[in-house]
Amino acid sequence: MKIEGKTVLVTGANRGIGQALVTEALSRGAARVYAGTRQALAHPDARVTPLNLDVTDAAQIRAAAESVESLDILVNNAGIALYDDLSERAALEQHLAVNLFGTYGVTQAFLPLLTGSQGAIVNNVSTMALAPFPFTPAYAISKAAAFNLTQSLRALLAGRGVRVHAALTGPTDTDMTRGFDIPKASPESVARAIFDGVENDEEDIFPDPMSASIADSWRNGAVKAMERENAAFVAAEPTAA
Ligand SMILES: NC(=O)c1ccc[n+]([C@@H]2O[C@H](COP(=O)([O-])OP(=O)(O)OC[C@H]3O[C@@H](n4cnc5c(N)ncnc54)[C@H](OP(=O)(O)O)[C@@H]3O)[C@@H](O)[C@H]2O)c1
Repeated sequence: MKIEGKTVLVTGANRGIGQALVTEALSRGAARVYAGTRQALAHPDARVTPLNLDVTDAAQIRAAAESVESLDILVNNAGIALYDDLSERAALEQHLAVNLFGTYGVTQAFLPLLTGSQGAIVNNVSTMALAPFPFTPAYAISKAAAFNLTQSLRALLAGRGVRVHAALTGPTDTDMTRGFDIPKASPESVARAIFDGVENDEEDIFPDPMSASIADSWRNGAVKAMERENAAFVAAEPTAA
């Protein structure tokens, strides 16, 4: 799947990795980039169409889907990460609302367009889907759930010609990681690696040095083999997603 000439939608497009994904899609020759944001966005490139899109707002999701005529690549990037210690159920619900149900809702809304174009979905999850960081456990739980959603969608949509990728992103230098004094990748390099992964048809994309260090063991590991074995059941008996 080449980005050139394609129509791409990025959620959470106004800053951080989402903003870098918009810039990267444009520089790869995307024909149209829909930039989903919660506040109005002005962009100098005429190929960018801003979309009012709070991913927790069902009416906005519906209106956004109705305003887009065709779509090749949906990037579910919008996300929140707040400190918590699992003492408050509300913190868990807040993370699930954006990071899991937001991803789910936007995906369902744009699925007819993506099946029509035989397109691709990219869910920007996190290495924390695999190994939580105990200062942000609610975030990690929501990313684990979003990754599992990604794996099931991958199996369920394969028969309908839609590729489903996970970006298992590691520490990246954005507002989200401000205050963490650790090595971080630039959002621009992560955006490049995510679209490289899509263009190279990598199911699971490890777009930064930290995540890349576990890529081989993940791809060749027993858990990935089990994901493929389980997916083969769906391939044998297609069901609607
Ligand atoms: N930074 C990292 O180290 C890292 C690592 C792994 C994965 N990720 C993932 O990468 C994605 C982007 O994160 P980032 O680092 O670029 O963080 P960021 O700079 O904090 O940006 C988050 C983006 O998500 C948007 N957003 C939040 N809630 C939303 C909602 N309800 N509806 C629509 N948009 C919403 C924000 O919009 P507003 O400006 O309106 O708040 C913003 O555009 C997230 O899913 C994050 O979990 C990041």
